[in-house]
Amino acid sequence: MQKKVFKHKFNKGKNKVSIEKNDVFHFLKAQPAGSIDLIITDPAYSGMNNHLSLGKGRIVGKYSEKGTSNGKWFEEFEDTEENYRKFLSLCKKTLKSNGHLYIMFDAFSLLSLGHIVRDFFDVKNVITWDKVNIGMGHYFRRRHEFILFATNGNNIKIKHRSFPDVWRIKRIHRASYPTQKPVELFDIMVSASSKPGYTVCDPFLGSGSAAISAIKYDCDFVGCDISKKAVEISQKRISEFIKTEIDCLQNKTSVPENEKRFW
Ligand SMILES: C[S@@+](CC[C@H](N)C(=O)[O-])C[C@H]1O[C@@H](n2cnc3c(N)ncnc32)[C@H](O)[C@@H]1O
Repeated sequence: MQKKVFKHKFNKGKNKVSIEKNDVFHFLKAQPAGSIDLIITDPAYSGMNNHLSLGKGRIVGKYSEKGTSNGKWFEEFEDTEENYRKFLSLCKKTLKSNGHLYIMFDAFSLLSLGHIVRDFFDVKNVITWDKVNIGMGHYFRRRHEFILFATNGNNIKIKHRSFPDVWRIKRIHRASYPTQKPVELFDIMVSASSKPGYTVCDPFLGSGSAAISAIKYDCDFVGCDISKKAVEISQKRISEFIKTEIDCLQNKTSVPENEKRFW
């Protein structure tokens, strides 16, 4: 795969962001062992993608034009157990001892794959992201996703000991990138599990929300996405944010008024 790495410096050159178009496996293999302090990622589970496949009349409107040429929301990560084990073993190799890992799951992938995380890491919390506003669904309509918080070893501390394990943060309405997550979601994870200068990694970058959060907390960031479009969107978003501190893909807070007490 042809590799072009976009690098940006910020914080008067003290920190750096590096993103590239790459497959998660190639990317993680190329990262030096024990080089990452914090992995925060939101994989493109194929189970969910199949569930929501475009072109069957279920998803209409602007996102049907934004999907991939094969009628999917985005390029898939084949979420078989074998692939998932390969992915987690590469996360394990790359993460520092006592480093933290946050992996997002929809309800279906949590049931089928979530348990595998325990074979590699110490799972500390199953966090519920309450999106406040309901989404799609044929039965009870979906309003939540899950995040597994796990560690590479047991000597761990987090900031924000007052935070509950249900995070009420509004999903992004009419997002520019399908599945774009609110930056505040990443803000909780980055601020709880990092110090300035830590290296944060997201190998399923999407629109770069994790990178924006890492920059806000003076962390270095490395990431990749298999989609050229995702990398281009992220690159533009990151360089504008570094220059102006304005997030061109999320112009208002997603934290409801009555949740601000936790922040
Ligand atoms: C759920 S989205 C991430 C959204 C992101 N958290 C955000 O807020 O914008 C998952 C991303 O994984 C990417 N992806 C799918 N398969 C991949 C693979 N094998 N390697 C790297 N990225 C992949 C997709 O292109 C998609 O952008």
